[in-house]
Formats: sequence, C-alpha cells, structure tokens
Amino acid sequence: MTKKLGRLVLSVPFTEKVSARLSELFDCLTPERVIPADQVVENAIAHRADALMGFTSPRLRAEHIAKLPASVKVIATASVGFEHIDVPAANARGIIVTNTPDAVTDATADATMLLLLGACRRAKAHVRDMDAGWQSRNGFTGGLGVQVTGKTLGIVGMGRIGRAVVERARGFRMPILYHNRNRLPPELEQGARYFARLEEMLPQADVLSLNLPGGQGVLMTREKFALLPKGAVFINSARGSLVDEDALIDSLKSGHLAAAGLDVFQKEPSYDPRLNELPNTFLLPHIGSATLETRDAMGMRALDNIVAVLSGEPALDEVKI
Ligand code: DGY
Repeated sequence: MTKKLGRLVLSVPFTEKVSARLSELFDCLTPERVIPADQVVENAIAHRADALMGFTSPRLRAEHIAKLPASVKVIATASVGFEHIDVPAANARGIIVTNTPDAVTDATADATMLLLLGACRRAKAHVRDMDAGWQSRNGFTGGLGVQVTGKTLGIVGMGRIGRAVVERARGFRMPILYHNRNRLPPELEQGARYFARLEEMLPQADVLSLNLPGGQGVLMTREKFALLPKGAVFINSARGSLVDEDALIDSLKSGHLAAAGLDVFQKEPSYDPRLNELPNTFLLPHIGSATLETRDAMGMRALDNIVAVLSGEPALDEVKI
C-alpha cells in the first residue's frame, strides 16, 4: 500500500473521479451527504484531520474554526466562492484557505448564456405550456420574447467569467459594455467599451449581466434598476447578495424590466417565491458550475491545493483577503 499524504475530512461527497483520487492519496473521512459545520468539526477532531475539503456549504464560521484541531493546515473549498468560510479566523490560526477560481469559468459563462436566452425568450412560460400538454397555440402575437441577437450587453465584473461571457455574446453580435474596478488592457477588453462609473453604463445596457464576486454588499439597488432602460433584461449568475430582490421584483412587476434570468438568490435554497410567481423570470437552482467535467475539475483543483500545502509547497490558489 502506498503511503498516504495525510488525513482528510470531507464535508460533501465528491464526483467518482475526484473520490477515487482522494482515496488514493489520502486517508479520507467521506460523508454520504452534506454535513453540518458542527459535524465537520467533530469529524476533524476524531479523524485528526490535516485538511478539510468541501463545497459552498456548510458555513464554517469563526466559532467552528476555533474548535478545529491544531492538526488542520488547510481548508480547501471546491468552489470559486469562499464567503462560507471565515478566512480571517482560519488565517489567524495559521490555516490556509484555498478555492478554485479557474475551474468554473466556462461552465458558469455557459450558464449565463442559458439564463440570458431563457429570460429573453420566456422559456419558463413556454416550458410550463408544454408541461401542461400545450393546450392552445400562441398565434402571431402571443408568447413573444426579447430578441437576443444585436442587443447591447452590459457586464459588471470583467474577470475570467465576464470575459468568457463576452466570447459567447460575440456570437450573438452583441455590442459589449463593461464596468469593472479597473480598465482592462486592450487584448483582454476584446473591443468592449469601459465605463468607470456603473451609473453611466446602466442606461445603455439592453441586457445587464452580473459577473463579479459576492461579499461586497448590495450592488443592484432600487436606484440602479431605475437607471436601466425600460424593457431591459437582468441576468445574475454571480451572487444573490448583490441584488435588492424587493427592488428587482418591483421592476419586473411594473414592466420596467422585461425579464430576469437568475441562478443565484439572496436566500438559497429557500428563495423568495414571488420570483417564481412572476411570468417574466427564468430561474435556476445555482447550477452555474454544475457539469460533470467542471465539478471534476473543481474537485481535482481543491485536491491539488491540499497536496501542495501538505507537501510544504505554496497553495496554488490561496484565498487572500
Ligand atoms: C462557486 O464555485 O462558488 C459556485 O457558485 C458554485 O457553484
């Protein structure tokens, strides 16, 4: 038997491929389903864990991190988001936190286009019609959506995912505007027009897509929704915490927004049911990165981060805040 690299506590089950590599390299304690944070701590103590590996839940707060055994050197989340881990509390105990920023890019950009197309073309209403047995035809004027091709797309957050959305949107001949903390060099801008002030971009965006990390408070306030042109479409595959959902619902109800495509919500999984009651929403249950290929890549990258830290090397993706 080859010598294992360390003792690992997992807080969620991983894909087959990732699980096979995990058990090859580590002495792993693997749960059958997502376990709560208290259980993660108990398992870490019982298993004398060197590392924890998980996904976007459970939430590891300072009180959980304080109870982890001194053996834990790294907490690796197989996600780009890390707001479920109290990173300063971990770092204060000398525990490194890692994430997987590169692995999710393509799947999340693909899902952004799914939201964009689904919202613009009223996919929810059409799927509901089909589920109900397609009782009557739409005729010439019924069930009309918003044409995607040629619409101006405003992107907030031109990191990896935002830029991957641009590549896809080009196929729909969409002029691109973007707002970002810093202007990108021309080779990364890909012809997109930069706005230092979001307020100046909003009135020109037919479709607005959020592609920035969460954890920075509410960005889309009532005032910002009001700045979008009437009939705009709002897309969020980033984080629900960026959006004032009451304001979003009011904008959809009044017809100021034509539609919204959302993969993320203020509360998950028990999201605001009013969003589903509206005919002009297209909603997904936070599946941006949910493809087998991407989940394998996310798991493998988290594992590579653990291998690096336990071998005394720098982590590949240390979270630094
Ligand atoms: C992430 O990686 O943070 C995603 O939101 C999980 O799907």
